[in-house]
Amino acid sequence: MKKIETLRRIFPRGLWTRTLDSFLPHDKSTEKALELSGKYVEQRAWRTGASLVFLGGYGTGKTHLAAGILIEAARMGENVAFSTASSLRMGSFSQIDGAFMEMKGKDLLVIDDFSNETENRMTNHRIFELLNHRYEDERGTIITSNLGIEDFSETVGARIFDRLTERALIVELEGTQSYREKKRASYMGWTRV
Ligand SMILES: Nc1ncnc2c1ncn2[C@@H]1O[C@H](COP(=O)(O)OP(=O)(O)O)[C@@H](O)[C@H]1O
Ligand SMILES: [Mg+2]
Repeated sequence: MKKIETLRRIFPRGLWTRTLDSFLPHDKSTEKALELSGKYVEQRAWRTGASLVFLGGYGTGKTHLAAGILIEAARMGENVAFSTASSLRMGSFSQIDGAFMEMKGKDLLVIDDFSNETENRMTNHRIFELLNHRYEDERGTIITSNLGIEDFSETVGARIFDRLTERALIVELEGTQSYREKKRASYMGWTRV
């Protein structure tokens, strides 16, 4: 089966339109984030173990950029996978084990919506173990999270955060107006006339 067809099977439907081409930067931080995403793709930086962490509030385009990169990578013939952090604690022990096993070997992996809920502690630990393992194998990972940089660092722990920042670029989309709000504002324009 072609890589792009495999991706079609494993990729949530709603993410197909979230390409890098359809991402419209609307301020300095989104411009920078799009530029870095483009470079990450161009240089296939995941092959050197380089990772990306997109941080920022709800609706700032984190999942869009992660999906956009993944789509490009799949078009290049890379073996990719998309998963959400919360899905990684669902199912039986052996199912979860199996999921982690499978993710280990992907050329590029996205873990979407990493959070600091306490019931996720075990999962979070495993995610960073996985990241480490992938890094040793020179495979990149993209993580998105609603957490601010301080909370993110606290959640993963200072030691892991330090190691992570050696090889991962943290891209903050915090502070930008949510794209959803922007869209909504344009729909609501009629109320102001
Ligand atoms: N800069 C942008 N250009 C085009 N669409 C965007 C942009 N930012 C966000 N969107 C769209 O807004 C919605 C929310 O974005 P999403 O990436 O899911 O946000 P987040 O993951 O940060 O919560 C999606 O439909 C996404 O495609
Ligand atoms: Mg998201």
